[in-house]
This record gives sequence, structure tokens and C-alpha cells, in this order.
Amino acid sequence: MRSKVTVVGAGNVGATAAQRIHGLGYADVVLVDVVPDLPQGKALDMLESGPVIGSDASIIGSNTYEASANSDVVVITAGIARKPGMSRDDLLLTNMKITSAVTQEVVKHSPNCIIIAVTNPLDAMLQNIYETSGFPRSRVFGMAGVLDTARFRTFIAQELNVSVDDVQAYVLGGHGDDMVPLVRYTTVGGIPISDLMAEEKVQQLVTRARQGGGEIVQLLKTGSAFYAPSASITQMVEAVLLDRKRILPCCAYLQGEYGINDLCVGVPVKLGAGGMEQVIQIKLTRDEQAALKRSAASVKELVDVMRKAKGQGAKA
Ligand code: APR
Repeated sequence: MRSKVTVVGAGNVGATAAQRIHGLGYADVVLVDVVPDLPQGKALDMLESGPVIGSDASIIGSNTYEASANSDVVVITAGIARKPGMSRDDLLLTNMKITSAVTQEVVKHSPNCIIIAVTNPLDAMLQNIYETSGFPRSRVFGMAGVLDTARFRTFIAQELNVSVDDVQAYVLGGHGDDMVPLVRYTTVGGIPISDLMAEEKVQQLVTRARQGGGEIVQLLKTGSAFYAPSASITQMVEAVLLDRKRILPCCAYLQGEYGINDLCVGVPVKLGAGGMEQVIQIKLTRDEQAALKRSAASVKELVDVMRKAKGQGAKA
């Protein structure tokens, strides 16, 4: 029997992720969106690609959650995306309301699923989804680090004219402009990047990776990135469904790790059939720890704004 994956949000990120997951062939996919007929139309189009790409998996679209019942993994991409001039944080309260409503439906119909949060601002949205779901933290985590490192790895591979396969990198912290690339752990074929590139060049690539999402928004003008984000989602879904025990940077609810409590921040984790099976702790330098604290503080600010808005909503 195939696994079942639901993708909520049939926009650019969700539809492209659904397409990639359907293409894997070993998971049936349900695509959910509020817009009438949109997920149905996209899902049918993808289903009809099956004979060509060799996928027997089913994919259906729906405006309700019944068809998603008992999913193994649910990917939440529902929300609004950035337009030029907007930061990820500008999306905060709109996407908070959307992800709260979506999570309640997901929990009701798939009480044992693993949730992968994607909606931005990611760290704050994961916090909201985690708290709304009531799931253990192992079953609710977010996609950001895989994308951020993919961008960093792309730029390094381009610069050195080497295979992207041989470039390894890690980032910590929030999915924002203050994310913390761990340059010490960035290697090319196992060789530290500092042996291959001048420090100044490394820093230029770090800056470009940090602003990678914004660079795409500026070019697209009507939305934000979705090809690399959907590829990153698919890698995480695959790690869970195939119990691959991959060590990947993900956004996770921390309970004391890295000195951070009750806050969702990006860290390296182990992903397998149990979801986030372990938070990997590495020893940070004083500068790295300070940068991580700064990044966590920005996430905390957004979480506080959400708490205040929720408190006001409760009083109204
Ligand atoms: N339930 C289900 N779907 C919803 C809901 C809801 N309550 N509210 C909005 N949506 C849907 C929209 O109808 C739309 O089809 O979410 C989809 C979002 O798609 P896009 O606008 O194309 O945005 P996308 O580029 O896919 O980004 C989605 O992922 O990377 C993040 O920052 C990005 O937060 C954004 C999210």
C-alpha cells in the first residue's frame, strides 16, 4: 500500500510540491485549497501526467478535508506569498489565521500525521501550527534550512565550478535575513570551504544565500520562489516516508537545545519514520551562538505579536 501525503495550498509552492511527490510514485497525494475547482483541476492535470512519467500514484484535489483523512504526512503551504517590497514578516497575522484554521482541520482528519510547515514567516507559523496541533514536536516541523542551504550550496558550486552533490552546508536560526550559515561546517568533497575560497568571497555568498528568497521575489514580481522550496519539501517528505534518517537543517520546536526554550528555530535534525527523531546538537563558537540568539530573538518578536493578536481576539 502506498503512503498518503496531503498538501494544503494549491498555489505555486503547494502544487509544485504535489507534482514532485506524485512523481515519486510511492505516495498517493491529496491537494487541498479553498479556491473552488483549483485543486481539482491541478490534481487531474497531474494525474494525467502519470502514464508519461510512470507514476501509478493517485492524486486528487479537494476543497474539504475528508479526502485527506489519515494522511501520513501533511504539508501546509496555505497562505499568502510575498510581493516585492514585503518581508516574510509582513505576512504574519494573515497567515497566522490561515494556518490556525488549516491545522485544526488537519488534526481532526489526520490525528496521527506528521506535519511539515512551509507557510511564511516560517518559524512563527511553525510555532502557531505546533501550538494549535497539540502534537508532540517530533511530528511538527518546518521547511526552511534545506532551502537556505540549497541556495548556499548552489552559489558555492557555481563559484568553484564543482558538482552541487559535493557541496555540504548547514544553516541555523530563523528563515530570515539573520539566518546563520555555519561556514565552519561547509565543505566541498569533505574539504573545508576556507581552504578553497577567500573569506571575503565566502561572506559574499553567505549574504546572497541570506537574501536568496528576496532575489527571486524581485525577479518574479508577482510571487515568491517555488521550484527550490518544493524540491526541499519533497526531500523532507521522502526522508520520512522512506525512514531515511537524514540529517537535515529544519525548523524545530526547541526545548533547551542550544540554550533556546519553547521557540521554533532552525537546527540540524534527524528525519525518519518518526518525524523529527532527534535534534542534533553541535558545539557552537561564541560568535555563532550569539548570532543564533539574535536570530531566535527575531522569531520571538513575531511570536509575541501573534500572542498579543490572539489575546486581543479572545477578548473581542
Ligand atoms: N486553506 C487552504 N488553502 C488556502 C487557504 C486556506 N485557508 N488560504 C489560502 N489558501 C491557498 C490560496 O488559495 C493559494 O492557492 O494557499 C495558496 C497559496 O498559494 P500562492 O499564493 O501561490 O503562494 P505560494 O507561492 O504557493 O506560497 C505559499 O509558502 O513559501 C511560502 O511565503 C510562501 O507563505 C507562502 C506559502
